[in-house]
Amino acid sequence: MVSVVVPAAGQGKRMNAGINKAFLSLLGTPMLVRTMQKLSSCSKVSEIIVAVGADEVENTRKLLEHVPDIKPFAVVAGGAERQDSVANGLRAVSFEADIVLVHDAARPMVSKETIEKVIEAAEKNGAAIAAVPAKNTIKVVDAGGIVKRTPERASLWEIQTPQGFKKDILQEAYKKAFEDGFKGTDDASLVERAGHLVEVVMSDYRNIKITTPEDLLIAEAFLGSDALDSAKKGIDAAVDFVSEKAEEFKRKWKEGKF
Ligand code: CTP
Ligand code: MG
Repeated sequence: MVSVVVPAAGQGKRMNAGINKAFLSLLGTPMLVRTMQKLSSCSKVSEIIVAVGADEVENTRKLLEHVPDIKPFAVVAGGAERQDSVANGLRAVSFEADIVLVHDAARPMVSKETIEKVIEAAEKNGAAIAAVPAKNTIKVVDAGGIVKRTPERASLWEIQTPQGFKKDILQEAYKKAFEDGFKGTDDASLVERAGHLVEVVMSDYRNIKITTPEDLLIAEAFLGSDALDSAKKGIDAAVDFVSEKAEEFKRKWKEGKF
């Protein structure tokens, strides 16, 4: 059974919208709702645990209760840092879960294919993370603004979520990080330092983390083109249906069946 923990308890300081960015609308639908719908579209996902601010728990439950087609969910209070929010979510995961995915509420544009690939790789190898090859040259720079080195770009990957793990591996890594006072910027870094191999799974460049106001524009552009594509598919299907019916009518007419 696959459970997903969705950290959504940040303050969105870089977004500077005055509210948790997870509740901002993207083409009329709150970001968190879009993320939940995308995760729910994946048949292997059985439950979703969302961590929000302690004062947002009640309203989030009410919001999600009205969303059609989402998987069984629970809402818990997050913590001061993302790692604390994930740890709280992890405690609420069902006993039956053997795979746990962690996916940021701030990445509503994740594809169903990426979610499925991460689940499959985690089932096989214990730990897998979505990523894309770095497009930019990345340099290591010291505190004084001086370049220290330039790692070869071909070996650099930008790491995203979802990140998927066998439950016992993730629980053990979180326990060890807590005991050692280690803070990582993603979940895999905790698993890496616990000595496990982590596999990278090719994702895509649309799976951005919505962080600053311009990311909202980019996200709405992607979502708008997806909506156009599916509307176009609908129109194409309707045109095909109508022309098939017209051909059938002509054939019957010629055969004198009326
Ligand atoms: N997150 C969380 N608990 C925290 C901090 C972050 O659950 N204490 C979540 C965010 O809600 C987000 C994800 O972790 O879905 C990635 O974090 P980030 O993009 O940094 O979001 P914020 O922390 O909200 O933004 P900022 O850092 O600009 O304040
Ligand atoms: Mg943050």
